Amino acid sequence: LSKEIAEQPAALRRLVRDGQEEIENLAHAINTSEDVIVTGCGTAGNAALAGTYLFTELCSRTVTMIPASEFRYRSRTLNPNSLVIALSQSGETLDVLDAISDARQRGAKLAAIVNTPMSTLDRAVNTRVLLRAGVEQCVLATKSYTTMLATLLLAAHASTGRWSTGADLVLHAADAIELMLDDGSRDQIREVATRLAKAEHLFVIGRGSHYPSALETALKIKEVSYLHAEGFAAGELKHGVIALVEAGTPCLVLAPDDATRTDTLSGASELRSRGGRIIGVGSTGDAVFDDFIKIPHAGVASTIVESVPGQLLGYFTALARGNDPDRPRNLAKSVTVK
Ligand code: F6R
Repeated sequence: LSKEIAEQPAALRRLVRDGQEEIENLAHAINTSEDVIVTGCGTAGNAALAGTYLFTELCSRTVTMIPASEFRYRSRTLNPNSLVIALSQSGETLDVLDAISDARQRGAKLAAIVNTPMSTLDRAVNTRVLLRAGVEQCVLATKSYTTMLATLLLAAHASTGRWSTGADLVLHAADAIELMLDDGSRDQIREVATRLAKAEHLFVIGRGSHYPSALETALKIKEVSYLHAEGFAAGELKHGVIALVEAGTPCLVLAPDDATRTDTLSGASELRSRGGRIIGVGSTGDAVFDDFIKIPHAGVASTIVESVPGQLLGYFTALARGNDPDRPRNLAKSVTVK
């Protein structure tokens, strides 16, 4: 796990260097379709959801996310002007393959963002982008997630003729991750993880494009450390979840320097006033944070960078709890059953 986390900067740079033609083709397919649906499971589903925010923000395009296991219940309106983009590391996840065959039967155009060349998914579509992340052995998806986000960010830029702006952003994110893995952040994250290891629950909040990051951070932490972690859209807290916060409950708050920050911080204050222990993640500290994980600012690519603290928190919390981070219980790398 630790090795694959460290491979992310190189994987991102490789995607920018070698992926342009495929990503431009995907952008063309998006531009020539009336409606675009993204689908995937687990981490790939979180990347797909992040894509819906990126497309709205960067090219004013509404893209719908349907979890692959729910696809068949929402596929009725697909037609030959629809484009379905399936995201998958393995290219063998049964729910994703079922979604693609459903979409094919309805005449939709099919595309994939996939890490495994010659996988069933890769061979099933007309347009595909290979993630080029290299073999991902660990059960936890890490480099496949960040390269999926980068592909979507690049495609959103390419669809408005701005490949090089997107490329610069991804390269900047790669540098930022490298910096974070090399400087003191790793030790600081380990320290936070030592405290988390003793907790029973963790809540993770973010707004806008950081909401999918909150879901992914929670998933990474729970699947390897078995700490109950849940991600929420920060504004949803007050509609119920806040009832669960008690003195000392750890709450991880994604607070980047963008338009979401002020409202996210006010959510953090509400949590704190109920006794929550606030772990801030961002490039600027704030008085509301009890712990602060500083990450380099990366603009619209910050969703890529902010996923790394979650990966490391999962890793170190697992170690602190005596779990093997490379062999989480009950999980398979590739889920080929229903
Ligand atoms: C999380 C994880 C799973 C997978 C999901 C989809 O770390 O590994 O949630 O993301 O099973 O797998 P792929 O991407 O192979 O379709």
